[in-house]
Amino acid sequence: MLCFSITALIIIFTVPVITFEPVWIGNAFSMESFQTIVDNEVLMESCGIQQESKIKNFPWAVSFTVDGVNRLGGSIISPYHIITAAHGFITTIGSRGNLCENKNWKKPNSSIYRSIKFLRDTRKVAYGGTCIRGHTDKYPNDPRCKKSDVIHNKVRAVLVDGEFASSNCLKGHDWAIVEVEKRIHFSENVRPICLPRPNMYYTKSLAVPGWGRSYIFNESGPLIHEIPMRIDRDCKRPWSDRLPADADDFICATSMNVSNYSAPRTCHGDSGGGLEYRDDNYGRAFLIAITSFGTRGCPSNMLARFTRVDMYLNLICNYTGVCY
Ligand SMILES: *[C@@H]1O[C@H](CO)[C@@H](O)[C@H](O)[C@H]1NC(C)=O
Ligand SMILES: *[C@@H]1O[C@H](CO)[C@@H](O)[C@H](O)[C@H]1NC(C)=O
Ligand SMILES: *[C@@H]1O[C@H](CO)[C@@H](O)[C@H](O)[C@H]1NC(C)=O
Ligand SMILES: *[C@@H]1O[C@H](CO)[C@@H](O)[C@H](O)[C@H]1NC(C)=O
Ligand SMILES: *[C@@H]1O[C@H](CO)[C@@H](O)[C@H](O)[C@H]1NC(C)=O
Repeated sequence: MLCFSITALIIIFTVPVITFEPVWIGNAFSMESFQTIVDNEVLMESCGIQQESKIKNFPWAVSFTVDGVNRLGGSIISPYHIITAAHGFITTIGSRGNLCENKNWKKPNSSIYRSIKFLRDTRKVAYGGTCIRGHTDKYPNDPRCKKSDVIHNKVRAVLVDGEFASSNCLKGHDWAIVEVEKRIHFSENVRPICLPRPNMYYTKSLAVPGWGRSYIFNESGPLIHEIPMRIDRDCKRPWSDRLPADADDFICATSMNVSNYSAPRTCHGDSGGGLEYRDDNYGRAFLIAITSFGTRGCPSNMLARFTRVDMYLNLICNYTGVCY
């Protein structure tokens, strides 16, 4: 009897407890107003549906751009909110994409986060189209993309999961909510993606839409592309990869064929983009996870890590009013 109760106790205590340390960049969210502005019935009706088209499209995909060049991805979830990765708002992430170069981080303090002024002055929030810039001399062009067709908005505030930085980027928590300046108006080309249900079923083959680099030595192009990815439940990294692969909120995935050198895979710039599942019955897209990081240099056998969204549904509900 005693043995039994001790076992029960241990089981209860080993269930992962997700902690959360909110860090605001910019003015704190006006949470009460979102509870009334965000109409969850409308969101549930319209989320994750693509317009009638043979070509798969991604009306929730967001690019944070600098001079028309993609820097970070994201997904629209409400008329005011985008879900993305926390590491896009941290100043000491290595320039070559290495995590947490500064091993001496203590408690997160505003200086390790980008300032709202910097974000407002340098970042454009682009969505509602496929092409983020027209032809330029400086960056790679795409023949299908002569003129940009996106809508621009600005960052008003960011809520970052502070545990990402305070645990030296080693324990997951790589997610953030961006609040935009102007209301996002939904249309054929602009829609929110559906949040997942807790522990929702999804297939092994998922996709990340985004404007990231096709491979490490190429600057990213102006046109959105879809990267099919395969879930790797064992989370097996190549020998050269020493980055963490076992946080409670990780989902791992690889390209569809790790031995094919040219198989599409997530790379720089895809961070923050959604790993989405399209429901078989209705073709609705669900935001299963957020692109976090992968094996350095995005080799063809790389292991990509994503932040599970279902673990943060209560927090997303509390801070954005998106609760369905
Ligand atoms: C962190 O914050 C403290 C107190 O606000 C400040 O004194 C310190 O300079 C900051 N750290 C850095 C590296 O700026
Ligand atoms: C480099 O990026 C451009 C723009 O996306 C693309 O058209 C080109 O094919 C890429 N080059 C290689 C070698 O992948
Ligand atoms: C994966 O790629 C390798 C190398 O390009 C190729 O030989 C192999 O047939 C591919 N496997 C599948 C299942 O397509
Ligand atoms: C490797 O991937 C590329 C890009 O998806 C594809 O075009 C090619 O057919 C693949 N090669 C093999 C051998 O599977
Ligand atoms: C959400 O807000 C409610 C009420 O303020 C609070 O009791 C609850 O702990 C919050 N949940 C999370 C996950 O922060």
